[in-house]
Amino acid sequence: MRNNEVEVKEVIDQFEFLLRGSDHVFFYIHDPDHYWEYISPSISSILGYSPDELLGQKFEFLLSGDPTDKVVKEMTKAALLKGNQMPTYKAVLRHKSGHGVELEILETPVIRKGKVTGIQGFAIDITEQRRVEDLLVKSEKLSLIGQLAAGVAHEVRNPLTSIKGFFQLMKDEFTEESNKFEKYFSVIETELDRINLIVSEFLFLSKPQAKKMEIKDICEILDTVILLFHTQTNMKSIKVWRHYKNNHLSVLCEQNQLKQVFINLLKNSVDASDEGGNIYVSVEKTEDDKVHICFQDEGCGIPKEALAKLGEPFYTTKADGTGLGVMISYKIIKDHQGVITISSEENMGTTVDIILPLVKIET
Ligand SMILES: Nc1ncnc2c1ncn2[C@@H]1O[C@H](COP(=O)(O)OP(=O)(O)OP(=O)(O)O)[C@@H](O)[C@H]1O
Ligand SMILES: [Mg+2]
Repeated sequence: MRNNEVEVKEVIDQFEFLLRGSDHVFFYIHDPDHYWEYISPSISSILGYSPDELLGQKFEFLLSGDPTDKVVKEMTKAALLKGNQMPTYKAVLRHKSGHGVELEILETPVIRKGKVTGIQGFAIDITEQRRVEDLLVKSEKLSLIGQLAAGVAHEVRNPLTSIKGFFQLMKDEFTEESNKFEKYFSVIETELDRINLIVSEFLFLSKPQAKKMEIKDICEILDTVILLFHTQTNMKSIKVWRHYKNNHLSVLCEQNQLKQVFINLLKNSVDASDEGGNIYVSVEKTEDDKVHICFQDEGCGIPKEALAKLGEPFYTTKADGTGLGVMISYKIIKDHQGVITISSEENMGTTVDIILPLVKIET
């Protein structure tokens, strides 16, 4: 018996040494009646309890009421009965503060002198792994939706071309007869052009593009993006005010990527704004020959603690957000030798300033 205890102590020391510094795994032993005999200290960083609080308790104490409780009981029972190593399984145990923690568990029977005298197991905290898996599924879903939407845009453009063609024919005949419908025709024509522009723009954005740096007018890029947001801003009665101090400001850019930045920023401002809010988009040339683009909203703003997290991948406060918008925008602006700064005050609004190098065009 004494020898046995020394052996067990040695094994436990080895495990503790192995697990030292790991706050994702704990090791435990319990007897056939489920009373814990040993739990490694790392349990406290995973489930909030110190080993002393649990020793002498039954393992059922940690069950959380989750459907996986049944799996835990059955797997443990089978390992005790059969004396075999069981496959790993997933379970949700109860943290001291009440929430569930998802663990992956590997249990083997403790066999002494040919008899099963208990269960020993490893439990690995897989919360982080699960979060990453969920995000992967979510981004996969988003890209699928994007592909579907691009397909729809493509299908819309075909009938649109026929409508435009027939409309042109109709218009030619009518104007010969009377000018009565001239006013309506011009409205229909501008609206058709607008649908066409939006659909083409959408198709262009959703297609994977070869990288191409071009010289482009920054205000034209902004105008197309604002146009794309027309329906969303209208729905919330949000007004987008444009103030372009200088015209014809050219930048060397991958225009698709800059559009992506402006879409991300405008979307964030629209999400943050209340009904009837205002968003201001301004452009001006700086004294040192750069272009300063500014997006300003009067929305909910960002608390100080959260401001520090902005730009970290997957940081989001939205139920349907991926938390990638700001991070991607930072990267794109940096790739364009620019600088982006976000300042915000809670309940007051948010301002995003972007500085990009200008391209001088000789005239
Ligand atoms: N203009 C803004 N006003 C208020 N909060 C903002 C603003 N811009 C960003 N935020 C905050 O920063 C978080 C991260 O923004 P980010 O654009 O990276 O991700 P997201 O908008 O949540 O998701 P998505 O990946 O769909 O853009 C947002 O969830 C929001 O809490
Ligand atoms: Mg966003």
